[in-house]
Amino acid sequence: MLNKVSVDDIDVRGKKVLVRCDFNVPLADGAITDDTRIVASLPTINKLVEGGGRVILCSHLGKPKGTVKPELSLKPVAERLSELLGKEVRFAADPEVTGPNAKAASEAMQDGDVILLENTRFRKEEEKNEDNFSQELAALCDVYVNDAFGTAHRAHCSNVGVTKYVPTAAVGYLMQREIEFLGNAVDNPARPFAAVLGGSKVSSKISVINNLLEKVDILIIGGGMAYTFIKAQGGSIGNSLVEEDYIEYAKEMVEKAKAKGVKMLLPTDTVVADRFDNEANSKVVPSGEIPEGWMGVDIGPETIAAFSAAVSEAKTVVWNGPMGVFEMENFAAGTRAMAEALANADAVTVIGGGDSAAAVNQMGYGDKMTHISTGGGASLEFLEGKVLPGVAAATDKGRRKIIAGNWKMNKTPSEALALIEMLKPLVAGADADVVFCVPAIDIIPAVSAVKGTNIHIGAENMYFEESGAYTGEISPAMLTDAGAEYVIIGHSERRGYFAETDETVNKKVLKAFEHGLIPIICCGESLTQREQGITIEWVRQQIKIAFLGVNADQAKTAVIAYEPIWAIGTGKVATDEQAEEVCCAIRKCIEDIYDTDTAAAIRIQYGGSVTGASAAGLFAMPDIDGGLVGGASLKEDFGKIVNYDK
Ligand code: PGA
Repeated sequence: MLNKVSVDDIDVRGKKVLVRCDFNVPLADGAITDDTRIVASLPTINKLVEGGGRVILCSHLGKPKGTVKPELSLKPVAERLSELLGKEVRFAADPEVTGPNAKAASEAMQDGDVILLENTRFRKEEEKNEDNFSQELAALCDVYVNDAFGTAHRAHCSNVGVTKYVPTAAVGYLMQREIEFLGNAVDNPARPFAAVLGGSKVSSKISVINNLLEKVDILIIGGGMAYTFIKAQGGSIGNSLVEEDYIEYAKEMVEKAKAKGVKMLLPTDTVVADRFDNEANSKVVPSGEIPEGWMGVDIGPETIAAFSAAVSEAKTVVWNGPMGVFEMENFAAGTRAMAEALANADAVTVIGGGDSAAAVNQMGYGDKMTHISTGGGASLEFLEGKVLPGVAAATDKGRRKIIAGNWKMNKTPSEALALIEMLKPLVAGADADVVFCVPAIDIIPAVSAVKGTNIHIGAENMYFEESGAYTGEISPAMLTDAGAEYVIIGHSERRGYFAETDETVNKKVLKAFEHGLIPIICCGESLTQREQGITIEWVRQQIKIAFLGVNADQAKTAVIAYEPIWAIGTGKVATDEQAEEVCCAIRKCIEDIYDTDTAAAIRIQYGGSVTGASAAGLFAMPDIDGGLVGGASLKEDFGKIVNYDK
């Protein structure tokens, strides 16, 4: 689950709100032939208008590839929107999109007004996500809202770049609905969870199959891609579609399904045709016995019965890709039967965009589905388990990144000064909070050395008592008096070598807050725990105990560092997805303890062999808000890490 700032969380009165919509509608002779996407954008626009915002809409349309193509102007959309909203939507005709006409139109706006900018892809920078156009877009507004799910799998200026330059970014209702339905279906499905995959190519669904096999109970494969699977199992498929290069992969997937206990259903009978034509001769044959000269064009009646029965058992069904050549009426029966089976199922049904969405709508079952995604490519990437750049950019904006060095037991006071001098210019331009957590004895000289810079100083540990007979320990007041602002608590090295427990971590966290120190609270699993599959359970437990007695206001300011022990100092950095999975689970845990606001505010770092090379990928993850860096914090590379986004 992603934490989002939604349009419900922002006050837009009197503010200019730039809304990225998906107005990429089909046009014929300058007229809009299907306004579904425009209609889908209305709830967000209405909400912003009602809230007194000055609403500046933008979108791309078609593929003008950076040139001004009058036939791809958004003007007809402004007209249709005016009708649908029942109020004037002024079209800011401007070939530069953000040029003088757009500026003048936005300056002339009153609260509640709506204008639409020209096609963002008239600008060549758009698809390259180049900074100048992102900045120009940002300069038009005070608040940015992304409601264009259909474009969320692309990183372009109008949906990703712009978020770097706006103070507040949020997601609109359409985007929120897509994330919720697709996200919940895949991550928290009511079970049995069935996925129905079709369409012509295995190659375009590789990652989807692989990812869904980790999550579903039933995997149904139909459509053109099924023949590659049938051939992989030794069947004859005549002239049917096949991807020879994916036969091995198909075999592996069948094995994986077995190993995971997933019930995988393939067609057992097939409608075959003697040519690719609605009027071709056709007959039904067993799937593995397609004669030469014939090609599979739809699933057969026995398969329809088996697939429909499996769907009717499920409590969650995700469908992507038709079962046959549904564009030809004579070969649409399989796709129609699946649409009907989903419509009748007592289940959450989610249609993953593209052809299957078109088929469901065309066959009249649209209103029987729980959710039909407006994004083709975007929903596919979502089902692949990928983080969509457009979603990530609009959702993690509220949290400033924080990148902290953990010097560990390195650097004497004089060495510390030399290191700070070396790093100062390298970290100077960072668009993130930069913290050096240094050995206790280095704190005082470090604090004076960083005066007037963007560097903050933290400690690596402290004791939980105020003062007294604790030989060798450092108290919280000593840290604050010395000028430290942060303190690392519960690092795995302290847990491992100095017998720190979850309970002492909790006592220290409480003391840190009492003294106005920001704790960087560490958690993470060992390799054995990861191999046992108990990572998330373990980390949740650590977090729950660490936060006992901490109130929500305090928790909002805390920093958590997720540091898998097997990655610390080993050079074995977690993959972006591994790190994101746990950081996302930590955020969910904070939401369970407190509430969504606290979960949205708390910053979660990843730590463990972070380098200049791995930082950008890790920090782009929606739930990773920076890093806790050991080895690389003592080197020039730290400059690269804090400037990961440059
Ligand atoms: P590392 O250490 O970056 O050297 O792996 C991270 C840490 O221990 O905080």
